[in-house]
Amino acid sequence: MPITLNTLQTMHGKAEKIAMLTCYDASFAQVLETAGVDVLLVGDSLGMVLQGHSSTLPVTLEEMVYHTSCVARGAKQAFIVADLPFGTSQVSPQKTFEHAARLLAAGAHMVKLEGGEVMVDTIDFLARRGIPVFAHIGLTPQSVHQLGGYRVQGKDNKAAQRILKDARAVEQAGAGMLLLESIPAVLGAEITANSAIPTIGIGAGGGCSGQVLVLHDMLDIYPGKKARFVKNYLHGENSIANAVARYVEEVKSGAFPAAEHSF
Ligand code: KIV
Repeated sequence: MPITLNTLQTMHGKAEKIAMLTCYDASFAQVLETAGVDVLLVGDSLGMVLQGHSSTLPVTLEEMVYHTSCVARGAKQAFIVADLPFGTSQVSPQKTFEHAARLLAAGAHMVKLEGGEVMVDTIDFLARRGIPVFAHIGLTPQSVHQLGGYRVQGKDNKAAQRILKDARAVEQAGAGMLLLESIPAVLGAEITANSAIPTIGIGAGGGCSGQVLVLHDMLDIYPGKKARFVKNYLHGENSIANAVARYVEEVKSGAFPAAEHSF
């Protein structure tokens, strides 16, 4: 049965963990959903792991539309989320709607955009017009130059309070899911406990409703520096399918992330 936003919200309500991975093409979409991945994220991380850029900033809407359509052709039941790349959601709500509509027309079921409180008008505009929104807060890679690098966010009390406020604001504005990147595990757990919508963590501890990793990181293909939250699932396995199945199993059982992958 196809996985919908309702399925994911029910899983969050029952505390059943959600397994998500990035995916950029049709073949991987098939492998990943067969191995039990619930959500495929066509992430703008493709700028780094496929295109060789040093950040996600150069990725264009055309490229995201192309990769989303590839994934949509390969996936039969997974829920597909596509990133609004840099410069396509930091504009008016109307313009953002037009960009998001391109991704939905290409086969995405939901769009992801970066930012908390500052994005509430846009989230409200999209959600009221039938576009499900996944809000990405904590470390937001499209703001890498403003953040001064890929650093853990919300470490002191003031910064943690700001992230809690962001989480509340985007949920109230109508976001259907929340991505928490690189924040202390206690903060990830607190946000999740107070959230009516599913939270997906990447470096946000085991208290989230689910987990996501970049495919090329968990298969140890990406040659760049690995973040603390990355685990190599190909290690000790004889196929990509088995590696992904082990990731799904560890997310579902709560074995991943362990303390060593958390902040
Ligand atoms: O683009 C991406 O892969 C992401 C991850 C950080 C989850 O947004």
